[in-house]
Amino acid sequence: MSKNIVWHNAAVSHQQRQARNGHQPCLLWYTGLSGSGKSTIANAVDRLLFDAGCHTYLLDGDNVRHGLNRDLGFAAASRVENIRRITEVSRLMLDAGLIVGTAFISPFIADRAQAKALAGDAFIEVFVDTPLSVCEQRDPKGLYKKARSGEIAHFTGISSPYEAPLSPDIHLPTAELTIEQAARQVISFLRQRDIISGQPD
Ligand SMILES: Nc1ncnc2c1ncn2[C@@H]1O[C@H](COP(=O)(O)OP(=O)(O)OP(=O)(O)O)[C@@H](O)[C@H]1O
Ligand SMILES: [Mg+2]
Repeated sequence: MSKNIVWHNAAVSHQQRQARNGHQPCLLWYTGLSGSGKSTIANAVDRLLFDAGCHTYLLDGDNVRHGLNRDLGFAAASRVENIRRITEVSRLMLDAGLIVGTAFISPFIADRAQAKALAGDAFIEVFVDTPLSVCEQRDPKGLYKKARSGEIAHFTGISSPYEAPLSPDIHLPTAELTIEQAARQVISFLRQRDIISGQPD
């Protein structure tokens, strides 16, 4: 980095933003197979928090590849860069005081560790734990069908590994939970951690 690039301190502090928002910022990092329910549950959580007056934002898989990361492919180096950019954008949002959700398959432990290292204490790993057989049955985007027929290469769970979190902060076995129950479990965790207080009901 150039020596001529100097950090400018912000006039509005992190603490002042938190005080106005009435909650702490955090990064809910949802990980799980395609079709496990990351987007569905992350959106349900976001809805509950938003309706309760929290300041939130959700970064979702394919949407980010439409814009910010449109130049990135799926090779190893691009994958790392994909996660790095998502995490850096999340950090800006954390600095703005938001409760940020990210819904990416993020199949590799090392990539998630990188995100955790960059985001620090704010990082909350949410394992959307759905058996491959259930995801394949749901197949909301028809991707498993394509992966099985060989139309999509390196598909997580079929032709590319998924490394499950070893000790996630939140574990959501969705085959045994409704979407509402899973979302409520995330909200309870945020309350236990004093990230939110009171809201939502
Ligand atoms: N208990 C549950 N929790 C979450 N989703 C469920 C549950 N039961 C059924 N579903 C359905 O499973 C599907 C999950 O799809 P979703 O798009 O949320 O997965 P995803 O993890 O975001 O996948 P991708 O990585 O491809 O974006 C939805 O159609 C949802 O309605
Ligand atoms: Mg999704």
